[in-house]
Amino acid sequence: MTVDHAARDGFSALFSSDGKDHHREPLATRLLHSFLNVCNEGRIHGEMDGRPAASLFLKSDIGDAPISFENYIEYLACEVVPYSINLSSPRCLGHMTGVVPDFVRPLADLVTRLNQNMVKREASGIFSALERQTIAMMHRTVFGHPESFYNEHIQNPSSTLGVMTSGGTLANLTGLWIARNTSFAPSGSFTGIENEGLPAALRHYGWRDAVIVGSNLVHYSVDKAAGILGLGVRNLIKVPVDRSNGIDLDALRRCVRNCTEEGRKIIAIVGIAGTTDCGSVDPLDGIASIAREAGVHFHVDGAWCLPLLFSSRHCSKLAGVEKADTVTFDGHKQLCLPSGSGMLLIRDPHAARVIEKQTRYILQEFSGDLGKHSIEGSRPATALFLHAALRLIGRNGYGALIDESIFRAQFMADLIRNRPDFQLLTEPETNIVLYRYIPERFRSACTRDLTTAENQSISTCNERIQQAQFRSGRSFVSRTQWDCASEQGPVTVVALRAVIANPFTSQDDIRFVLEDQARIAQELAAV
Ligand SMILES: Cc1ncc(COP(=O)(O)O)c(C=O)c1O
Repeated sequence: MTVDHAARDGFSALFSSDGKDHHREPLATRLLHSFLNVCNEGRIHGEMDGRPAASLFLKSDIGDAPISFENYIEYLACEVVPYSINLSSPRCLGHMTGVVPDFVRPLADLVTRLNQNMVKREASGIFSALERQTIAMMHRTVFGHPESFYNEHIQNPSSTLGVMTSGGTLANLTGLWIARNTSFAPSGSFTGIENEGLPAALRHYGWRDAVIVGSNLVHYSVDKAAGILGLGVRNLIKVPVDRSNGIDLDALRRCVRNCTEEGRKIIAIVGIAGTTDCGSVDPLDGIASIAREAGVHFHVDGAWCLPLLFSSRHCSKLAGVEKADTVTFDGHKQLCLPSGSGMLLIRDPHAARVIEKQTRYILQEFSGDLGKHSIEGSRPATALFLHAALRLIGRNGYGALIDESIFRAQFMADLIRNRPDFQLLTEPETNIVLYRYIPERFRSACTRDLTTAENQSISTCNERIQQAQFRSGRSFVSRTQWDCASEQGPVTVVALRAVIANPFTSQDDIRFVLEDQARIAQELAAV
């Protein structure tokens, strides 16, 4: 066999950091500049000349000969980076991902270069202890146990205060996995649902079915969890919300009673702290009482609004979260951290034993390997970002950020209320604003009196505005569907959705976004 020396040397050079690679840094900086040029023009993304992005990625042949790093950077700088989405733009109000503080850049470099693997201590060293400390900081923020509790559990290999995850989806799944396994724990000859599966569990305990209960604004990751956990998506029961978009507690009580009467075991009731649609918070304290009375696991999905706990002005909206059994949290949403900063917090430090896994080459009984409880195997040390942010921004910094975001959402709601061309669809409880544009011919009618056909026509108009706004690259909000009351009963309409969480979004930016939409609407009406 012959060795291709040129290929081998080129390969080695790609891994080296012996000084010969210093040309890579300025090249990589070029990438950033190609993106910043787009940002400096105040745009959300570069103009694609009408070409669909996918048309640039149609070749599937790798090619045998490698290209140079310089050529690859050139390609990225010209063909890829300018067309990514400028999520840090103060006029990009569409989604829950946004601006990242600058201190993250050197830390991200460190995380990548150290390439620690959090699945096992032998590959993560001190970072396992750092991750446990980060989890404990958030656990204390939510559950507020005394100092002695944290002294006992923070680094105790037999205690689990939480699990870091890639995001809210896996945190919800992990919480509901614990709930399912606790509901169908080993008893007598039955060795537990994790081992024997759902049909055996139902037979042993004498239930007809197993269900999860949440409101009809529950995030679709809970649908995924119901499927993955073998319950079936249709066994996620969605209870209606009340006028403030929180779960209707009377309806929840009735649902719990009906489930018990019908032989359906509720493995968890899910409360939402910050719905994806409109940022509303469920009445967590009320749900906690119902769950406790029924002996059911209480899971809170706080992916969006858990950081309200940092604000002395708004933390009371989350009253009752401390009674949850498990709580989902996402650092990459309102804490402005890079993706991969999700977490499940677990009130009882021993509750995670029901999902614990051991294997022969790692994760042995007292190893303290973090992979014992995480769905993911190999996992990066992204806990470093949250660890740093909690020190560098701190409770006060994040509290101020939350206060500002909610204040600006109220400002936007006031602007909308005072304009004849827009309609506020619901009062924002936190920092997501739902509204729609009303074309001139419908403005004189009271919006409750609009017919289904008229609402349909307004929805089509809003859909076109939102798509045109995205294409323009000047500003952006997302869109969803919203159930409104009308003379003919509930009607589902297209809603524009502004997520206000970027600290640099000013009142002028918010005015700009609305003016931009009004201008687009007029342009569309003219053609
Ligand atoms: C309320 C809620 N829960 C869970 C998730 C899922 O989070 P992730 O995208 O980090 O998996 C989201 C995402 O938007 C969310 O809004």
